[in-house]
Amino acid sequence: MTSARPYPAAALFGRLLDHANRHDPYPYFAELTREPIWQLDAHTWLVSGHCEISALLRDPRLSAQDAAPADGPSGPSGPLGSDGRPFHGPFLLLDPPHHDALRAQTVHQFAPRILGMRPHIEAMVAGLLDQHGGSGPGEIDVVASLAYPLPVAVICALLGVPPEEEPVFHSFAGRLTRALDPVETLSKQEIAELEVTRADWLAYLLPMIEERRATPATDLVSGLLTDGDPATRMVDVELAATLGLLLIAGHETTVNLIANGTLALLRNPDVLARLRADPGLAPAVVEEVLRFDPPVQMNGRHTTADIRVAGQVVPAGDRITLMLAAGNRDPRRFAAPDRFWPERTGNAHLAFGGGVHYCLGAALARMEGQAALTAIATRLSNPRPVADPPPYRPNMLLRGPEEVRVAHDGITPTG
Ligand code: HEM
Repeated sequence: MTSARPYPAAALFGRLLDHANRHDPYPYFAELTREPIWQLDAHTWLVSGHCEISALLRDPRLSAQDAAPADGPSGPSGPLGSDGRPFHGPFLLLDPPHHDALRAQTVHQFAPRILGMRPHIEAMVAGLLDQHGGSGPGEIDVVASLAYPLPVAVICALLGVPPEEEPVFHSFAGRLTRALDPVETLSKQEIAELEVTRADWLAYLLPMIEERRATPATDLVSGLLTDGDPATRMVDVELAATLGLLLIAGHETTVNLIANGTLALLRNPDVLARLRADPGLAPAVVEEVLRFDPPVQMNGRHTTADIRVAGQVVPAGDRITLMLAAGNRDPRRFAAPDRFWPERTGNAHLAFGGGVHYCLGAALARMEGQAALTAIATRLSNPRPVADPPPYRPNMLLRGPEEVRVAHDGITPTG
């Protein structure tokens, strides 16, 4: 017997999965915001309401931890974490209290290192654009020339990873970030290779930890190895997983912030002109890019208890996808949600998540985004898109363009 479609969100979600719609998923997100919560199948839910996502991000009854270990070997014969339990993956995928212990050590090393970074980031941006400088008209791919190399250079310097390693970790990042997407979008081969890729990733990172232990330097990993109470320090697999998490999260997201921001400015020449005239608008522009076209479009959790969401009971053990990009355009929270409007007030977007997993790199990402978008607005003369929309990478969760080619009448030299 065939039943009438019990889950109307399934068709809508199917359109979001479709790569043909990757360049503009927002009509589908808009449809999703008609209701704050939808059931996708017997055990999966989508939450699209801003207020509901915000509350769920902070709800301890939601878990970010999969039942199966996320990374590498585990079980009785596998490595143990610093809590004495089987190692379970990077702290993004752990719950409190162990998550909190590992995150606190990382923040302790991360925060002081980024405090004085703004001038260095601005100099890096200037240097990258200078490579394309000259007074004449030309074309620049903002992704290849700025949006990608900037966060890679910054995160490599912070972590003490040699920039020459980029081709290797880029290849891992491509495969590991695809694994964050809904399983329906992955090929059988991608799924089959995932466990091996995760184990290979750890095997690639572990020697870097050993090398740093032998020769500590001033980088963040050396800090994690030598600072604090030796009794509670991260063990090597945790250090490697943290290094890997920061390496990937540190650039695979910011590249999309700069690329999406460039597109938003090109499509809104009035905002571009205002930023050009007043670089003090950069923080508001970056916040609006994060709301309007967020680099991380959704995140996943599961329930550890029955939870009531907007009148619906979501049973314990079910999967919940928090649609950050939909919440960012929820008309119940944002006036004129489809308008790119940096001057809006109360821009409490969800782009960096919330609660215990709130993005650890938010301040750094903001600095990089502000420096890059200001330089694009102030140094490129008469910029316009070569292809709009540009081609998009396959990723759904970490969504962003493969390239953003911009024609211009010249790039003002620095100094
Ligand atoms: C525009 C750029 C960025 C965006 C939009 C972004 C977004 C996010 C989001 C939504 C989460 C929460 C995920 C969840 O709740 O499941 C997160 C977590 C995280 N982000 Fe970012 N991120 C960005 C840049 C960065 C950078 C530059 C770094 C590091 C240098 C970083 C490091 C992390 C880490 C370590 C976590 C895990 C935090 C935890 O589990 O406690 N992110 N990010």
